[in-house]
Amino acid sequence: MGMQKQKNIMTSKLPSSKNDQIETLCSMSPVIPVLTFETVEEALPVSEALLEGGITVLEITLRTPVALDVIKMLSEKLPEAKVGAGTITTPELYHSAEEAGACFMVSPGLTNELLEAGVTSDIPLLPGIQTISEMLLGLQYNYQRFKFFPASVSGGPQALKAYSGPFGDVKFCPTGGISLDNAQDYLKLSNVMCVGGSWLAPKNLIEEKNWAGIKQRAQETFIKLQQG
Ligand code: 3PG
Repeated sequence: MGMQKQKNIMTSKLPSSKNDQIETLCSMSPVIPVLTFETVEEALPVSEALLEGGITVLEITLRTPVALDVIKMLSEKLPEAKVGAGTITTPELYHSAEEAGACFMVSPGLTNELLEAGVTSDIPLLPGIQTISEMLLGLQYNYQRFKFFPASVSGGPQALKAYSGPFGDVKFCPTGGISLDNAQDYLKLSNVMCVGGSWLAPKNLIEEKNWAGIKQRAQETFIKLQQG
């Protein structure tokens, strides 16, 4: 008689050092700008303006055809910046961004495949969650640091405050609907590492090539949020 096949309920485990790597990145600046570029050319002056304004961690979303080329270019030209890839929705995109030189990955949500990719890759993943059930899946893999997305319509700071009770060791980077006006409501919470947002480099300033305006936004943001 054949042996009954044992159901494999083992889950891969993320080494804790990868949670630490993500936390280190998220502690470098109170905000991670979420950047979407239409051309490779515009990416360099925008990123330089952000760096000059004190923002060193940059998330480049994979939402435009040039995004991987932008990551490659910025990783080569701005070694002082931490250039990561956002909108990672599949393991294929994870590996493409890795090849382009991204030093961290951000996903808007999570799947088993993405969580596995984050376990096996050398490049750490900040997986996105919107609900406690999604967080529980991440925790099964030993992910302890999450993007909370879209933050403002998913309960905002009150939701994160409530999560700190049952999930005291878990920390977040809330993103979505955050601006200079409400960032502090999140940053004052003990389980928030930093916030993410697109307000630092909005489309209109990029189109106008207003690099000085972007630098000024970065400086204002950095000063206001660092002061608390
Ligand atoms: C995104 O993925 O679009 C980010 O969360 C940015 O959101 P925001 O444009 O509301 O800052």
